Amino acid sequence: MCGIVGYIGKKEAYPIIVKGLQRLEYRGYDSAGVALLNDNKLNVYKKKGKVADLHDFAKEHDLKSTIGIGHTRWATHGEPNDVNAHPHVSNGGKLAMIHNGIIENYASIKTDLTSKGYTFQSETDSEVFINFVEDIYLNTKVPLAEAVRLALNKVVGAYAIAIMSLEDPNLLIAARKGSPLVVGLGKDEFFLASDATPIIEYTNEVVYLDDQEIAIIKDGGLTIKNIEDVEMKPYVQTVDIELEAIEKGGYDHFMIKEIFEQPKSVADCLRGRLNAKNGHLHLGGIHDYANKIVNADRIVILACGTSWHAGLVAEYIFEEFCRISVEVEYASEFRYRNPIIGENDVVIAISQSGETADTLAAIDLAKSKGATIFGVCNVVGSSIPRVTHAGSYTHAGPEIGVASTKAFTAQISVLTMMALMIAQKKGTLSESAYRSLLVELETIPEKIAKCLDLNPQIEIISAKFKDAANFLYLGRGYNFPVALEGALKLKEISYIHAEGYPAAEMKHGPIALIDENMPVVFIGTKDSSYEKIVSNIQEVKARKGEVIAIVTEGDTDIAEIADHIIEVPHTHEALMPLVSVIPLQLLSYHIAVMRGCNVDQPRNLAKSVTVE
Ligand code: G6P
Repeated sequence: MCGIVGYIGKKEAYPIIVKGLQRLEYRGYDSAGVALLNDNKLNVYKKKGKVADLHDFAKEHDLKSTIGIGHTRWATHGEPNDVNAHPHVSNGGKLAMIHNGIIENYASIKTDLTSKGYTFQSETDSEVFINFVEDIYLNTKVPLAEAVRLALNKVVGAYAIAIMSLEDPNLLIAARKGSPLVVGLGKDEFFLASDATPIIEYTNEVVYLDDQEIAIIKDGGLTIKNIEDVEMKPYVQTVDIELEAIEKGGYDHFMIKEIFEQPKSVADCLRGRLNAKNGHLHLGGIHDYANKIVNADRIVILACGTSWHAGLVAEYIFEEFCRISVEVEYASEFRYRNPIIGENDVVIAISQSGETADTLAAIDLAKSKGATIFGVCNVVGSSIPRVTHAGSYTHAGPEIGVASTKAFTAQISVLTMMALMIAQKKGTLSESAYRSLLVELETIPEKIAKCLDLNPQIEIISAKFKDAANFLYLGRGYNFPVALEGALKLKEISYIHAEGYPAAEMKHGPIALIDENMPVVFIGTKDSSYEKIVSNIQEVKARKGEVIAIVTEGDTDIAEIADHIIEVPHTHEALMPLVSVIPLQLLSYHIAVMRGCNVDQPRNLAKSVTVE
């Protein structure tokens, strides 16, 4: 959480930083700030609220500077207000710092500094850190970068930091551990950012810092060293994100743009990997390690949030087609419960951002026990793909709306391809079933497009239910994780309490809640549990619940009993989540918009959860 941006070069830094912060606002949006240097003065502007609020305030002030750092915050220590906003300035008034992460041992450092006479304006761990650097700097008389390195050696926790100094307008220092940081290399200029999106407008040459690396940009040159003081050779990569991919492109919100992008994002994900006509399926990133999965005793899937739901879908698919036992774990639980995991286990870590702190820590643990780790991530160059043994990118393109949509369908697409590839190698799926699933998978983008045509109908249904206080989502089999995902989407962005359940579990609790005020969304497409779902719908209707049912085109049985039906194209039941989730994404989007909610930046949430 929190987004950071930095610039040093010949241009005006402020516009670059503010635009960059806007691109990173998905990472946190409770306060924002910038630090600039002009005329031997360190100018720091910060404001509670969005980056736009910061700009309204800052534009009245001196914004001249060719160096600067900026921050958009998701509060950890201290409530969101102007004082706790970053940048933080050291007691001597010369050092300014932005920080994404948590300094866990800040309290003991703070006590020590307080005893030396340091005072603190904010409640943040970050302000403690910059004063710690200042204390070392003043007492040891080493160069500032060295003082930063010494301080980092004493710090426990996670950080991506950027520091500038009034004493040297040609110096910008950055470092990371656990939180992402990218250095952009322009012509006579350098950029820093939490991801590449603030940078791509200016350069596509970047260096992704590794954990415990420090970037020192001084007098137009970049040096990278680790915190043991060993100089590292920068590994320059080229990013190929199109600018239009990170803009709204005429849509009102990123979320609706991303929902509508799904025919393309799923097609992009399949492209070059799947060719149904000749039975070709190839995931280059896992090819060399595929036998590890084929021979695995067990697959453990680690993820959080929507990615965890994609993992549940994968559990059904891998077990059915590959006959390998699968466990899907919340990364946050796995990492703290002394799990049984060893060399014959395969871990698949799923993460849109590739930065989720709990997922990263869970990977570390599984890796230390000898498991082979595969990653399924969307953000190229992010942390998870760099710590896994092998993996596949989802290639959904940048997902900016906080509620995940196109990343979910791309994750399921990759996981399905993985399972089919393994099943074929293992011989657990007949050639004809394999071939027909490939054909079906190839048709998914057009089936998603057909679901998107339902948008006007779903908008009408949304208007009817926008004031509901609760929602229940029920599904069975492959559609059970879809019920969970539908409920999560609604609560995330509309703040309506919603729960997802396996439909049969309804009788063990949720049925007590059903009355005429309880909308119940059933995912009742034609599959092996169809008859059972029809009975569950009848049970809800008998208790006067209002039923919205996602059904297969041409369905008549559910159409007779449900209050509203939404017809989606038929596909193989294992692929149905890719189709049946689309109307649920649209339903939550419209309800949230009608309730006046900020769908792209829902309250209290952040897209990239880099703290545990
Ligand atoms: C946050 C996001 C969710 C996401 C989850 C896991 O809660 O708001 O959309 O599903 O983190 O993130 P990851 O990047 O690991 O998929």
